[in-house]
Amino acid sequence: MTTPRWPDPSLRLVAFTGKGGVGKTTCSAAAAVAYATKGERTLLLTTDRSPSLSDIFELNVSGEPTPHPEVDGLDILEMDYEMVVDRWKDAYGEEVYHLFSSFLDVDREVIDYVAEAPGIPEEYVMGILLDFYEDDQYDRIVWDTAPAGSTLSLLELQKRFYSHLGQAPSIYADVRSAMKREAGERPSKLLEQWRQLAKDTLDMVQAPDATFVVVTIPEGLAVEETHRIIDELSKHDVDIGAIVVNNVLQEEATAGSSFHEDRSAMQQTYLEEIDERWGDDPGVILVPQLPSEVKGLEAIRQITHELMDLDEHDVPELNSEN
Ligand SMILES: Nc1ncnc2c1ncn2[C@@H]1O[C@H](COP(=O)(O)OP(=O)(O)OP(=O)(O)O)[C@@H](O)[C@H]1O
Ligand SMILES: [Mg+2]
Repeated sequence: MTTPRWPDPSLRLVAFTGKGGVGKTTCSAAAAVAYATKGERTLLLTTDRSPSLSDIFELNVSGEPTPHPEVDGLDILEMDYEMVVDRWKDAYGEEVYHLFSSFLDVDREVIDYVAEAPGIPEEYVMGILLDFYEDDQYDRIVWDTAPAGSTLSLLELQKRFYSHLGQAPSIYADVRSAMKREAGERPSKLLEQWRQLAKDTLDMVQAPDATFVVVTIPEGLAVEETHRIIDELSKHDVDIGAIVVNNVLQEEATAGSSFHEDRSAMQQTYLEEIDERWGDDPGVILVPQLPSEVKGLEAIRQITHELMDLDEHDVPELNSEN
């Protein structure tokens, strides 16, 4: 087994991805707490539409970056999609109306219709993430993604937006607008802006200072899904920083219980498969299953200790403050 690239101190954007329920939020929270404890200005943000950062931190972090009262330098943000749609309408509503009315007989309801269309709020959420990435307010951005399926289709969407939102619709919109002898901005400007946003977000996730950590558990379905996720990410030229195998049963937890011994043997089979496939590239990190759920700062810090190589990456003793 080799040491995974993550947690490389030069990384600026670290995304945690994986199948539903495997521990993405838990690992994101643990990593973000570690970075902030090291003294880095850290934003932990989720794009999951059913977020659980407020629950795991036992704080309300919806809508705006919220400082953690006990961890200096850590801001946490759950994107509020309603707010996102409203902001999108403020930013683009007029232009959308102008664009559509240039070639269709529509009233202003078209703004609501487009704002809620599949992919549009997600696209704009990526724009918000991009703003944080480009701004120097934070040293590190830890991104707790929605379960892999939707994050991967988001990447696919960016690609399509970028490649198809190009010349043809722009020229069409301009020509129709000219035929109606409309004054004002060229309608294709909006399409160009969208295209640029799609390009910039793709550039962000493919940048050398961005990586995706794939979280999984040692069970058949999760390992299958991990293969698919890694194939998809590679297809989009996204760096994979590490595979985190969560919920690994510890020997002391299994002793004397045939139920747990059987489960541990089952896990062992998948751990071997995982190690064989990804042990050398990108490298595998094992995180034990704790006796209780991971909720509250103390439990998150326990995961931090398991997740990050504290000595090598110079993270101070995390439990000492409690
Ligand atoms: N190592 C662990 N030990 C014990 N419990 C854990 C561990 N990792 C995660 N859990 C628990 O498993 C549950 C799922 O974890 P988490 O919410 O992080 O997964 P997720 O991948 O973000 O899920 P979703 O796909 O729903 O967003 C939570 O209740 C969490 O407390
Ligand atoms: Mg989650």
